[in-house]
Amino acid sequence: MKIRMKIIAVLMVLTMGILTATCSAAEAIADGIDYLALVNKLNPLPDGWEDALETVTITNSVGDEVEVEAKAYEAYQLLKTDLEENDGIYLELDSARRSVAAQQDIMERFIEKYGADYAAKTVATPGYSEHHTGLALDLYFRLKGEDGEFTDVYYNEDMVQYPEVWEKIHAKLADYGFILRYLDGREHITGYGYEPWHIRYVDDVDIAKAIMEEDATLEEYLGDYRAPAVEIDYGTSKLYTQEELEEAAIQIKCSFATWEGCELHNLRYAGDDANNEENLDWLNSLNEEAGYTQIAEFLGDFHSPVEEAGAWNPDEEYTDYQWWLARTEDSGWEIVTWGY
Ligand code: DAL
Ligand code: ZN
Repeated sequence: MKIRMKIIAVLMVLTMGILTATCSAAEAIADGIDYLALVNKLNPLPDGWEDALETVTITNSVGDEVEVEAKAYEAYQLLKTDLEENDGIYLELDSARRSVAAQQDIMERFIEKYGADYAAKTVATPGYSEHHTGLALDLYFRLKGEDGEFTDVYYNEDMVQYPEVWEKIHAKLADYGFILRYLDGREHITGYGYEPWHIRYVDDVDIAKAIMEEDATLEEYLGDYRAPAVEIDYGTSKLYTQEELEEAAIQIKCSFATWEGCELHNLRYAGDDANNEENLDWLNSLNEEAGYTQIAEFLGDFHSPVEEAGAWNPDEEYTDYQWWLARTEDSGWEIVTWGY
């Protein structure tokens, strides 16, 4: 009985979430921002967002100014106090609201420092970053040594060395209306690798708890209802499971979302024969450090924009366009190249 009640309660919360989120962006913005807005590789920042956004700007422990949506900042302060007093973890904000130009700078810096592959999995295309909302917060933390001195644990590669610290932080997020946004192993849904530092304010403790307790992504919670309908034919494969091919297709859909004005109609798996030595040599020659061991080729049809088609012929149906994805033994699919 109790279990059934819990399921009904979760379903009610989920339904409420979907109803809230299906309000049009314009309606939501007239009453202030929509704290459940979905901004991801398929959904850019809603129009008019910045007119309704109220922010505060603070200076962090390394002297950088960080701008945050006002309610998210209030909630963050409560989370920070709780962690300091009860867990000895001193939270800091590395980054929160970012302009499109700031996102572009980060993208360039990451490509230079970590390479294009890592940047694509970690940094959103300008215009499609949740950071534009002011509701996404990148955390870092300070640890206090026995001598009372603080050490800033600031860089991504250092922060991931502290899973036990993140566990304590994540356990408290929902109590203050935050969720963890880019979960481990959900790259095929969110489009990004695991980011223990990137949290998202949703302004509702019950919804945050429903999401965190279900170990769900925001996309799953919202039913990913804004994703464009693309017909996908996975054919038959002896190499890959349906789930593995779905992971490859979602990479294509996410990347396609940034092809402004283009409309993807369908995708089809080109078959296991594409996974041969010659193609592996070719894709490895395009990305020499990758060491790819498996390939999936997809073909698809899309329509170019009616006007101002950039690289495309305007208003044209492109058929049998190719997308080449590859992966190593222990990495997810990457789109290595595309074209005819
Ligand atoms: N790090 C997240 C994905 C962003 O750049 O928005
Ligand atoms: Zn982030």
